[in-house]
Amino acid sequence: MTKARLVIMASGNGSIAQSIIDAAASKVLDAQVVGLICDKEGAQVLQRAKDAGIQTYLAPMKSDRKLWDSEMINTLEELSPDLVVSAGFMRILSAECVARFRIVNSHPALLPLFPGAHAVRDALAAGAKETGTTIHWVDSGVDTGEIIAQEIVAINGSDTEASLHERIKIAERKLFVATLQSLLADHVRS
Ligand code: GAR
Repeated sequence: MTKARLVIMASGNGSIAQSIIDAAASKVLDAQVVGLICDKEGAQVLQRAKDAGIQTYLAPMKSDRKLWDSEMINTLEELSPDLVVSAGFMRILSAECVARFRIVNSHPALLPLFPGAHAVRDALAAGAKETGTTIHWVDSGVDTGEIIAQEIVAINGSDTEASLHERIKIAERKLFVATLQSLLADHVRS
């Protein structure tokens, strides 16, 4: 049985990406990370992937959005992933791209609450008592795809955006790896 091919997409630090890289390397995930796509030059996640011997693809946004969209599809086609893992990737993918590939994303809030790029800040600003993390399929909307798994994280009175985000990410890393495990088991059965 060949291992499932994962492509990770990320934009920044890459701590979530790292947990997936580590889970594949230690065989917690029956998968091979065949590439990492990043849109931000100099992002820490690029070094993390290089350290793990994973091929990296730098894809900064272009002034011609359609060109970027088609380059993204071409790169993914080349890598032929069974599953694309969006782990802190801060770009919206084209409708064609999301229709073509199975893409799963993690989001630092309990969707449908607080979609978008500032989910942690928005939860604090709304005075929420709890928030969390959501693993969901990516569709052509902004964090609107079908929800696969969620975990609640309590908000403390003393929380800052940074402290809350760090606690969410602890839950996020575990939930993402566990969810990928079950998606990959379904992949083997199908
Ligand atoms: C994670 O919390 C992820 O859910 C979030 O970015 C963070 C990346 O952390 N993604 C989004 O907000 C996407 N809407 P990391 O760089 O430490 O992996």
